[in-house]
Amino acid sequence: MAKKAKLKRIAEVATFDNVLEHQDFDEAPKPAGSWNRDIFKNDKPIVLELACGKGEYTVALAQKYPDKNFIGVDIKGPRIWKGAKKARENSIDNVRFLRCYIDHLATFFEEKEVSEIWITFPDPFLKIRDRKKRLTSPKFLKIYRQVAANECKVNLKTDSDSLYRYTKKVIAMEELEIADDVSDVYSEKPEDDLLTIQTFFEKKHLEAGRTIKFLSFYLND
Ligand SMILES: C[S@@+](CC[C@H](N)C(=O)[O-])C[C@H]1O[C@@H](n2cnc3c(N)ncnc32)[C@H](O)[C@@H]1O
Repeated sequence: MAKKAKLKRIAEVATFDNVLEHQDFDEAPKPAGSWNRDIFKNDKPIVLELACGKGEYTVALAQKYPDKNFIGVDIKGPRIWKGAKKARENSIDNVRFLRCYIDHLATFFEEKEVSEIWITFPDPFLKIRDRKKRLTSPKFLKIYRQVAANECKVNLKTDSDSLYRYTKKVIAMEELEIADDVSDVYSEKPEDDLLTIQTFFEKKHLEAGRTIKFLSFYLND
């Protein structure tokens, strides 16, 4: 996308009433602990999509599960713009987007406020020196535990064999329970209503002939 178009989306997304940006919190109170009371105005479980990009999972899950609240989190405004616009245009009121670094999640959510986490096609950060940037690294799992309810599951969808194997190692190392492990989504579960929602990056990976993997595990042992 051209720089001018990106800047336009960054400016526009800041005006959307279903997007909260980290700058908004300089003066406004942070929503930690009050997403349901002040923002969704109900008591439904809160599900996060981390590194949501254009928010395809956030929006599709929200349409499938009106009994839950969904928040897509990403730092890139021009990408969030897409999902936020779709949610506004379709009056999907159980969706919000939070533009911040996932590293700062505990600033924006309270202990036990989050009931489930989705992570779809995160950058695998293959270089060993970048391993702490992987969103299923022990560093990030520790951040998620600060805001996760006891039964919170993390759902990872990826094209990367390395990230899939790495995540299984982390799960084993931390003695966590696996809820589901699918090494090839489209041959093992081609009809699965949840697993076949496709994101922008997933479509690119499928076009390139890559196999899509899914891992679901409990954050707490
Ligand atoms: C490869 S894209 C995947 C986007 C989307 N889930 C999809 O499948 O199309 C990875 C996304 O992760 C976001 N991201 C990576 N690390 C992040 C972090 N620490 N905090 C916030 N966003 C992050 C990037 O901004 C980018 O939008």
